Amino acid sequence: MPTTQCSIVVLISGNGTNLLALIEASVTSNFKISAVISNNPEAFGLQRAERDNIPTLTIDHHDYSSREQFDLALIEAIDKINPGLIVLAGFMRILSEKFVQHYRGRILNIHPSLLPKYMGTNTHQRVLAAGETEHGVSIHFVTEELDGGPVIAQTTVPVYAADTPEELAARVAVKEHSLYPRVVSWFANDRLHMQDNHAYLDQEKLPPTGVAI
Ligand code: GAR
Repeated sequence: MPTTQCSIVVLISGNGTNLLALIEASVTSNFKISAVISNNPEAFGLQRAERDNIPTLTIDHHDYSSREQFDLALIEAIDKINPGLIVLAGFMRILSEKFVQHYRGRILNIHPSLLPKYMGTNTHQRVLAAGETEHGVSIHFVTEELDGGPVIAQTTVPVYAADTPEELAARVAVKEHSLYPRVVSWFANDRLHMQDNHAYLDQEKLPPTGVAI
């Protein structure tokens, strides 16, 4: 187990409840949140970070003429911090190939579905519309394929016939908040790797849907 803490940068776009879970977990874990970066100046997560004296930065995508220019600014800012891991926590921008290649194997994302099902947005609405009885959350390594990188871990929740999208989202969120800090700790403790587009935990290749937790 590494003796130094893993420095992480968290990228957000909105509310930041996963960020809060990470902030709380970092007190007793082997990772330290070195900075929080948002593409959205109004993201409430920025206030959560400031409350805990975590440095924040806004890089507003509206200020850039292309995705590539925005991503270059993001890379420049992140490289100054030089973190061991980049954690996407409700970051609602698609990252360019250049960004993904620059930090290959060092970017995690949380997605509110049981990947590979329901990639993309509005997952809770689509799960309800399809009449699914099971839904959940996935943590995966980020690759060039949108929501398609190797899955590390999943937690399932039941779907009830009378659920509204909000109720279902809340049930998933509870699982997100315990799963993400756990997976980030695995990485910080050097237990988690990506190689040839596969996720490995403790040197063991994980199945396509990751570890069930
Ligand atoms: C979370 O449910 C996360 O899974 C989702 O955004 C929400 C952010 O909530 N991420 C995605 O949809 C990524 N495609 P938060 O800002 O309260 O952490």
